[in-house]
Amino acid sequence: MASAATEREINKWRLWGVNRLLETNTSLILVHEKTGKPPTLDLVKSIYYKDDEEAVDLLEEAKSSLRDMDMKWVILGACNFLASCPLRTSKDCGNVLLRRSDVFRTFGKTESQGMKLYIEASEALSRFRKIRDLNNLPISHFTKEYLPTDLMEYQSSTRKIESTTKDSPPMFQIDMTTSSDVFGLDNEPSNETRSAPRIPQTLFELIKHTSYKDYKASRQGWDDEHKLEEMEDEDMRYLVVKLSNGRLPETEKQWTKDSELDHSIIGFLSFMITQEEDENVVYIYEIHISEHFRDCGLGRHLFKMVEHIGKATGMDKSMLTVFKRNTYARQWYTSRGYEEDEISPRPRKLRGGRSIEPDYEILSKRLQKQGHKKVKS
Ligand SMILES: CC(C)(COP(=O)(O)OP(=O)(O)OC[C@H]1O[C@@H](n2cnc3c(N)ncnc32)[C@H](O)[C@@H]1OP(=O)(O)O)[C@@H](O)C(=O)NCCC(=O)NCCS
Repeated sequence: MASAATEREINKWRLWGVNRLLETNTSLILVHEKTGKPPTLDLVKSIYYKDDEEAVDLLEEAKSSLRDMDMKWVILGACNFLASCPLRTSKDCGNVLLRRSDVFRTFGKTESQGMKLYIEASEALSRFRKIRDLNNLPISHFTKEYLPTDLMEYQSSTRKIESTTKDSPPMFQIDMTTSSDVFGLDNEPSNETRSAPRIPQTLFELIKHTSYKDYKASRQGWDDEHKLEEMEDEDMRYLVVKLSNGRLPETEKQWTKDSELDHSIIGFLSFMITQEEDENVVYIYEIHISEHFRDCGLGRHLFKMVEHIGKATGMDKSMLTVFKRNTYARQWYTSRGYEEDEISPRPRKLRGGRSIEPDYEILSKRLQKQGHKKVKS
């Protein structure tokens, strides 16, 4: 049973159930709200266990789970330990670790506050499961379910790029694919991967070509490996744009001069179905159109596609990150209805009074009329 001092300490912590642990029903952990770190051994002991060994085990397990997983895979886990709650489903049975009365005592909640917490957490759990299930869908099912075929082609009406095609306006084919297909990470790569091994390098070079300067000027800098790691995330999906008639103009060759690259690719958007601050979101990681094909509606079309996917999968909002120095893209996003999100970093005041401006911002656009009410701990 937690002491008053421990209870005060707990207020700084959130109780999280971890995806992997939910499946294996072994544990639940606390992570610090700000640092995302597990609690100290003493705190663990005073909350859950009298037995030192069990507490050490729990802490070690929590630490290694945190090490192994990306924080996007944690969810509010209060629902897993309200043993006698009638709303609890049989699937959650194994995850009950504390008795309902223990939870209320630990968190200093009344029965009705506890029930409210439970309901909020149940909703959080089902939202989380939705994300997990969507990410586990094979790409062919995902595409069939959530991307209408008419969006997979785009014909620009603009005259600007007609010179690249002989008789007709340029046509673009847009394929949706996964990081494992793009990078050939699966044991059994699809035909698409076998026939196009140069795709990852092409996408990577395109990002580098359009945004290297912005990264270089930022605090985070440019790091080849870090970017590739992000691109390879197993939940990343790609909308890859290819010119399906005509040929690339000479000007395009400045970034595609490397013969190893796939010269039919002229742009892409990458996104992830994920969670941000308890909300289900479609997070746009990259959008890059090569120079010659800009301003002819392709970016708009890619956003239409990704927002359609976001709406169809029931995501609360669409989000993205942009460097502040990329004023063109920021204005373009604003014109598409994106606004600064509440989690966008704020200027940081230093002790001397100086303040540090973040060099990037997070923008978002609500996709559903009413998002769910956020769970506050
Ligand atoms: C930002 C980017 C993706 C836009 O793609 P695009 O294909 O050139 O944009 P589109 O042709 O679809 O834009 C069409 C619309 O935006 C409008 N528009 C174009 N530039 C604009 C700007 N700077 N500000 C506001 N609106 C703009 C057009 O008038 C048009 O409006 P409409 O939809 O009302 O007709 C593209 O410029 C790009 O790849 N830039 C380099 C990479 C980059 O910076 N990516 C962002 C990283 S965070």
